[in-house]
Amino acid sequence: MSTPKRGMRRNLTAYGDEEFSLFLRRAFIKAMGYTDDALERPIIGITNTYSGFNACHRTVPELIEAVKRGVMLAGGLPVEFPTITLHESFAYPTSMYLRNLMAIDAEEMIRAQPIDSVVLIGGCDKTVPALLMGAASANVPAILMVTGPMLTGNHKGERLGACTDCRRFWARYRASEIDDHEINEVNSKLCPTAGTCMVMGTASTMALCAEAMGMMLPGGAAIPAVFAERMRNAEATGARAVALAKERLTPDRIMTPEAIENALRVLLAVGGSTNAIVHLTAIAGRLGLAVDLDSFDRMGRETPVLVDLKPTGQHYMEDLYNAGGLATILRELKPLLHGKALTVTGKTLEQNLAEVRAPEKQEVVKPLRDPVFKEGGIAVLRGNLAPDGAIIKQSAASEKLMSHTGRAVVFESLDDLADRIDDPQLDVNADDVLVLKNAGPKGAPGMPEAGYIPIPRKLAQQGVKDMVRISDARMSGTAFGSIVLHVAPESAIGGPLALVRNGDRIRLDVPHRRLELLVDEAELTLRRKQWRAPAAGAEDNRGYRKLFFDTVQQADRGCDFDFLAAKVTMRIPRMP
Ligand code: FES
Repeated sequence: MSTPKRGMRRNLTAYGDEEFSLFLRRAFIKAMGYTDDALERPIIGITNTYSGFNACHRTVPELIEAVKRGVMLAGGLPVEFPTITLHESFAYPTSMYLRNLMAIDAEEMIRAQPIDSVVLIGGCDKTVPALLMGAASANVPAILMVTGPMLTGNHKGERLGACTDCRRFWARYRASEIDDHEINEVNSKLCPTAGTCMVMGTASTMALCAEAMGMMLPGGAAIPAVFAERMRNAEATGARAVALAKERLTPDRIMTPEAIENALRVLLAVGGSTNAIVHLTAIAGRLGLAVDLDSFDRMGRETPVLVDLKPTGQHYMEDLYNAGGLATILRELKPLLHGKALTVTGKTLEQNLAEVRAPEKQEVVKPLRDPVFKEGGIAVLRGNLAPDGAIIKQSAASEKLMSHTGRAVVFESLDDLADRIDDPQLDVNADDVLVLKNAGPKGAPGMPEAGYIPIPRKLAQQGVKDMVRISDARMSGTAFGSIVLHVAPESAIGGPLALVRNGDRIRLDVPHRRLELLVDEAELTLRRKQWRAPAAGAEDNRGYRKLFFDTVQQADRGCDFDFLAAKVTMRIPRMP
């Protein structure tokens, strides 16, 4: 068996003469000023996900310097390279539309270049899943680190966090409880430092899940972005990347079924973002693992929410860091975890955990016997309105609305929603169910975070804080409310959501996991015949947009492109 090629000899450009390819490569790379000695070292790629549009990644340049220092101290040659970066507020129509493009970019650049191992630097919501999806498919030794959460802001003595408090203050502004001056003041205080949203949004959730999955150094998820500890974590990550290259420890040995199940368990226990189930499904799909939503729901019934963090609780990520970070959560969850799962340290999850001292006192992570919420944060719903599933973040919903029947008030699209939601003539009551169509993977496109349908202004001004809302869209992990999301199949491809009309009755029954459109089957058959797909836009037939429309899968398949997922070999989580 021939020895795999290393360093500059890996992935040679195809000129039909390998020695010439290497000769040419060395000639060009020497223009960077490297010596022959440097070029013989293990080559550690570092993804540069910095962008002037991505404040969550503002610290990436200094993190890269720290990673490089770690690589060189361990005897490797660090080489950074750019990949796509995505910020939630700077990606039209939505960052989810571009997640798969970033995953393709990461995968192909890792595969194309002479990299012995790679440090993946992510942070903002879609970047971590995209990098892990790419790394899973490229299967080159990889280690993830995140930019880390922001510190909290302060307004009138009250702590502020992006973006749970963005939404809370915006809702107060819509209800005329605060004026223009105050909302502008709050706007300047919501994101006081570099880093990712410091509540349990998608970035925090995915960071904790990735650490639980074993793809990050222990403790890496919760360190605030601007702490010196974050730089030390980067240096250690660089050093470990050199060891990974020597050990040839590839992602398929770490992201095993057990590791993904650990991540799913952590998602439930942290009351994490609903987006993470889509992302973990996509990552698992790259490894031939199909996440079964009903099994995930069963896992949820025996996994309580332990973390008291916004938006469902009261603390922020810096508090979780002070409380010991993920290790404190894992210690409580231990009986429910696969402790023998291998991690990027070369040790198992339980070995890593044994090396971390428990905090003497903390109040962010509750004990298993006295949790924040007795079941996992996310429940999976089925019924004639969602034959392929829908989800609700029950830990962030109003208990009184968890069994609710109401009259549908339907918005046909995002534009229709924007046009009419605040119309004083809108026929809507607090007991109604707001329904948004055509906001799913193909509908919007990109399944935007529009599921947090605003409370109609006239009701907000009467003090209504929550209503049942249903859509095929996603919702920011920082949001809260009785909101049913990810309805599959989506309305834009003729899923039952497309058939809902104003005045229909809808029943939501979270305890029994049901979502029903109370319209008889004969009427639904008639409506199905009358249904017409939304007209294609002028740009829908070219470029990435065409690829997206042609191949994106539904939410229950992680919204990955069908040709990127591996052949399914196992369904997870494996629950009795
Ligand atoms: Fe980047 Fe929230 S916008 S993590």
